[in-house]
Amino acid sequence: MEELERLKKLNSKILSIASHDLKSPLAVVQNYLQLILDGYTGEINEKQKNILIRSSLRIKELLDIIDNILYFRIDEEQIAKDIKETDLKDIFESCKQKVISLAEEKGVRLNFDIQDVSIKIKVSENHLKKALDNLLRNAIMYSERGGEVYVKLKDEKKSVRILVEDSGIGISKDDLPYIFDEFYRGKNIETRGIGLGLSVVKKIVSSHKGKINVESEESKGTKFEIVLPKI
Ligand SMILES: Nc1ncnc2c1ncn2[C@@H]1O[C@H](COP(=O)(O)OP(=O)(O)OP(=O)(O)O)[C@@H](O)[C@H]1O
Ligand SMILES: [Mg+2]
Repeated sequence: MEELERLKKLNSKILSIASHDLKSPLAVVQNYLQLILDGYTGEINEKQKNILIRSSLRIKELLDIIDNILYFRIDEEQIAKDIKETDLKDIFESCKQKVISLAEEKGVRLNFDIQDVSIKIKVSENHLKKALDNLLRNAIMYSERGGEVYVKLKDEKKSVRILVEDSGIGISKDDLPYIFDEFYRGKNIETRGIGLGLSVVKKIVSSHKGKINVESEESKGTKFEIVLPKI
């Protein structure tokens, strides 16, 4: 029992280090890079700009990893408490802006098929953004140069369907049953990552009493569908 207590304390200590001591300085560096990119320190040439954009993307990657780790201390009830009426269109617009430079760097085209009407639904805005961001990042990261990512939103009577589809490398039948498990990574994956993204997506979707489905074929692509009930 004492050992269990000790491990719990250690766990919470590691999570608090992750949130404050790692995240804060990274966020500050990220802001400084953005200041230079926005021209506040004078003109920069294309080469300098490219290096800064790449550095900024790598820092974003680290911040995302830390964010996903921090979901260990957030339970479904906490997410559910944060649910309130929100416009899905705004959430999508903000998610799109966040992944544009990653898609450009990877040479993947983003196609957002979102009609210009507001879709009001009760969700936790920040958590849903995190879920979509994790799905979009996967769709981009696991695509080849020249690939396409499609995002669709279907407003139905009792629910909203969110589709994130890519023409990427796909998921093998052996991997498919495990992709939502914590720290699981596909056998064919060579890029950086820790295998937490989809476990976070699943936690967020189920705290909205929603469902997530996946269809995938190796070398053809992958389709994730989130169904959120209108509560
Ligand atoms: N769109 C996709 N195309 C192909 N494989 C995918 C896709 N999305 C997920 N996967 C597979 O599912 C695994 C788990 O995905 P998950 O997002 O949880 O972890 P990750 O991307 O490996 O790491 P990270 O924690 O950085 O997100 C991936 O390693 C990959 O094998
Ligand atoms: Mg991922």
